[in-house]
Amino acid sequence: MDFQPLGMNDALATTSSGNLTQATNVVEDEIIIRTVKLNKYFGDKHVLKDIDFEVRKREVVAVIGPSGSGKSTLIRCLNALEKATSGEIYIHGEKLNPNLSIKQLSPIRSELGMVFQNFNLFPHMTVVENIIEAPRLVRKMPKDRAIALGEKLLAKVGLSEKRDAYPNRLSGGQKQRVAIARALAMQPRALLFDEPTSALDPELVGEVLKVMKDLAYEGSTMVVVTHEMQFARDVSDRVIFMSDGSFIEQGDPEEIFKNPKEKRTRIFLERVLSVLP
Ligand SMILES: Nc1ncnc2c1ncn2[C@@H]1O[C@H](COP(=O)(O)OP(=O)(O)OP(=O)(O)O)[C@@H](O)[C@H]1O
Ligand SMILES: [Mg+2]
Repeated sequence: MDFQPLGMNDALATTSSGNLTQATNVVEDEIIIRTVKLNKYFGDKHVLKDIDFEVRKREVVAVIGPSGSGKSTLIRCLNALEKATSGEIYIHGEKLNPNLSIKQLSPIRSELGMVFQNFNLFPHMTVVENIIEAPRLVRKMPKDRAIALGEKLLAKVGLSEKRDAYPNRLSGGQKQRVAIARALAMQPRALLFDEPTSALDPELVGEVLKVMKDLAYEGSTMVVVTHEMQFARDVSDRVIFMSDGSFIEQGDPEEIFKNPKEKRTRIFLERVLSVLP
């Protein structure tokens, strides 16, 4: 299968079908991620509390909240990097069984592309090798096709000229764009970002946000844990404010930012927005 940006297959099918309304409804109803009463304890510390979470196809969900509120833990549970203590996780309807081995979980894990704060590129591989590693190993994609896919994705994130560079020769912003290309290479159903720009020098943040914005506008399904309030406000379809292991408030970004209903949301936003340049 040739690379298509997330959601693009459906967008094209929808347009050519001539039955826009019906097709759009079908797509919008598709739930990519669902959790039911998800709980996570570290020892006796209750870090996720009865989290019910749904992400629909093409939705861009921003998760904001103070340090230690459980944002990363939630993302890590979704991707089976962390084992939930109780509750259920469904990825595109398929239940994630936490008792399976990492190898057994591999197919379902590859449905979600993960982008970390610290890039996590393989240092001993070139940029293009980083990108094609998972499609080659997990999807058994032939080398020539994988390389063609890798080159296409590098062009997409504006890094064609870095194809054969090693990660230690890249800036943080470039590394993160490679990490996004690597996540896209598995053609995941959704992308999960955990503070993708917070390790970057301020002048490099924009280039990464631009790639993420493009993905959002193309119809990708994304969950973005972020401190970038402007991005959350401008790009997401829904903002979730998380505090102390719970979703305190969620809704339309304009509503949340202009008129938060919960006191804790208001206090948090006043604090973070007041330190914005
Ligand atoms: N592996 C772990 N072992 C024990 N406690 C942990 C572990 N990982 C996270 N925690 C604790 O769980 C709570 C939630 O952590 P988490 O990293 O999910 O917060 P966060 O909202 O992502 O914070 P930040 O904005 O600082 O990244 C914190 O109190 C943290 O100390
Ligand atoms: Mg975190």
